[in-house]
Amino acid sequence: MLALTAPRFVRTLQPRRLLASLPHVVEHDGTRAERSLILLKPDAVERRLVGRILSRFEDRGLAIVALRQRMCDRALAEAHYHEHRDKHFFGRACAFLCAGPLVSACLEGRGAVAAARRLIGPTDPRDAPPGTIRGDYGVHWRRNLCHASDSEESAAREIALWFRDDELAPWDQTNAPWLYE
Ligand code: CDP
Ligand code: MG
Repeated sequence: MLALTAPRFVRTLQPRRLLASLPHVVEHDGTRAERSLILLKPDAVERRLVGRILSRFEDRGLAIVALRQRMCDRALAEAHYHEHRDKHFFGRACAFLCAGPLVSACLEGRGAVAAARRLIGPTDPRDAPPGTIRGDYGVHWRRNLCHASDSEESAAREIALWFRDDELAPWDQTNAPWLYE
């Protein structure tokens, strides 16, 4: 029995040594991997879906760099949805963000922006396929459970909006070699 399990056990005990020779959350050009800003909107909190939704991102290999539950005030909601300020739904989308506690998260990983957008699915849950967060848990285009940055530029702006620098806690994932090589 010991002979069967020992080799696997020994390999999992040596991630630090592997990290020295394999890429991890630092990209080839020396920059950290991409980040995305995620919101679990008030409907996700009210419906007790926070753990399940966060797991989808973690299961994909994205690392939590910051995580916070908070109330969103009108000014923050309007700054977040600034790009939609002239749209007919701007006021209702902002009111929705302020309707109850929400959870903001900064996630990090290779291709984090595109990965998170694919995980949440299209804006209208009716168009979102099963397996996506909105496709599995949503029915209405406003109460669509989560937000994920739509570009690296948006992510940088949104992360700065929702988190102070000292609230970000990046870390080197010891399982990175198993995700990236
Ligand atoms: O969230 P996503 O990037 O997929 O969609 P968006 O076009 O950037 O819209 C932002 C949010 O506004 C959506 O997630 C909806 O919650 C809300 N919205 C709305 O209330 N009414 C609409 N007609 C469209 C969007
Ligand atoms: Mg958007």
